[in-house]
Amino acid sequence: MKKMVVLGCALGMFLSTAVFASPESGALLQKYQAAGAGKADPEKGKLDWTRVVVVDGEKMSCATCHTSDFSKDGKHHVTGKAIGPMSARVNQERYTSMKKMEKWFKRNCMDTWGRECTAQEKTDFLIFMLTQ
Ligand code: HEC
Repeated sequence: MKKMVVLGCALGMFLSTAVFASPESGALLQKYQAAGAGKADPEKGKLDWTRVVVVDGEKMSCATCHTSDFSKDGKHHVTGKAIGPMSARVNQERYTSMKKMEKWFKRNCMDTWGRECTAQEKTDFLIFMLTQ
């Protein structure tokens, strides 16, 4: 229990430096901690963002639809539909709904890696994304 409290404080400290974190993204990170995630590693999140995995014969990464430029629109690789910028700096709607983040983490991890992401992977992604 003591360990959890210490972890919670460490996370709080980290988040206070991530200017664009929302209460909802903070709550989601806490949920991942409770599910067993350790310290957030934004560098790992950054590497995972462009990591290419072949799913159903297709090369996929998060950047396939979202690109690696968080300030620009992305595009769904099949439907061609525009996806708004992922940076909370330019797109204030980003990371403001826990329900939305969870829904898309689930769907996008399946599409990109052929499996759900772990609590640790989602923690690393989210910390990386929040600081872009
Ligand atoms: C097949 C295209 C595609 C791929 C690949 C993809 N995404 Fe997405 N993602 C979307 C779409 C479409 C949305 C919902 C539309 C929107 O939010 O603008 C979305 C939304 C999200 C959101 C919700 C953001 C918010 O506003 O709360 C997160 C988080 C996310 N994606 C993370 C990822 C991560 C991490 C990966 C790689 C593991 C990934 N995405 C790969 C298409 C994709």
